[in-house]
Amino acid sequence: MNHEERPVSPELTQPDQEIELTLRPKTLKEYIGQEKVKENLAVYIEAARGRGEALDHALLYGPPGLGKTTLAGIIANELCVNFRVTSGPAIEKPGDLAALLTNLNEGDVLFIDEIHRLSRAVEEVLYPALEDNVLDIIIGKGPSARSIRLDLPHFTLVGATTRAGQLSAPLRDRFGIILRLELYKPEELGQIVRRSAGILGIAIDQDGPLELASRSRGTPRIANRLLKRTRDFAQVTGDGAITCQSAQTALCSMEIDELGLDLIDRRLLQIMIEQYGGGPVGLETLAAAVGEEAVTIEDVYEPYLMQIGYLGRTPRGRVATPAAYAHLGLTMRSEQLTMGNEQLTI
Ligand code: ADE
Repeated sequence: MNHEERPVSPELTQPDQEIELTLRPKTLKEYIGQEKVKENLAVYIEAARGRGEALDHALLYGPPGLGKTTLAGIIANELCVNFRVTSGPAIEKPGDLAALLTNLNEGDVLFIDEIHRLSRAVEEVLYPALEDNVLDIIIGKGPSARSIRLDLPHFTLVGATTRAGQLSAPLRDRFGIILRLELYKPEELGQIVRRSAGILGIAIDQDGPLELASRSRGTPRIANRLLKRTRDFAQVTGDGAITCQSAQTALCSMEIDELGLDLIDRRLLQIMIEQYGGGPVGLETLAAAVGEEAVTIEDVYEPYLMQIGYLGRTPRGRVATPAAYAHLGLTMRSEQLTMGNEQLTI
């Protein structure tokens, strides 16, 4: 299975896109979790509206699948302005950005997903637009080329990125509002699952949502996906209703465990423990042993294992933590215990 097709991948797939459109909350009130972000945003939005101004440019960052696009849409909705959506890779040339900007109305929200992937040339056009609401365009080539300046409406750029560190400093500095989204708590994800089931007309009992939520890696996108897959199992092998029991059976069939780890996550940890004594083991060695590319291990598998404290990065390579041993039901030798504790930099 391609890692992007894993049920527990947080990346957006085509089927997610459809379901997320249906499920997307439209107001801050409907949006579950991210309490601090919502609280602050509500103030900024109310203040901007009160002054009759465009909201400051806002950057949303955090892991994939947490609802950055949803939140951007809510910002536009709460401001009662148009919501224009694009992404870093989609804006290939400065002219593409110029077309977007000149079509905005006063106060509109322009959302650029994956904003860290904008090219330098496009960024250069964006800066004066963000700062002075002007667009400098060059007409013609060579000695006869001249620059003309167009006034733009006041607008709000909402940028989203999973990699705030990759944003160029000049771009980062132009955001007056920077908000970091966190993984959701199981109780919050449970509420999201209950809401989604209600909208999709899926029968689910009192305990079903939390069972799905606790295996969804803090990520609504995964929770909603597991909800749909679990409904399939409940329909074909049960009476159609999702219960704690039927959710467990479905997830067991998909080989997703109580913490949301799948077969590959567990294999990675198991290889580290059984073949390399729990580590330290170099990334390249580990990648070869698991049969994946090093970047895939680093970008796809490690973040969640590190987040839950099962895997650590040390100067000499990766180590499995005591919690990983315990989860897999394996015992640690005493010298590994001391080694792991000394070197761990999670
Ligand atoms: N769907 C995805 N994220 C959500 C959230 N935070 N609240 C409600 N529904 C959601």
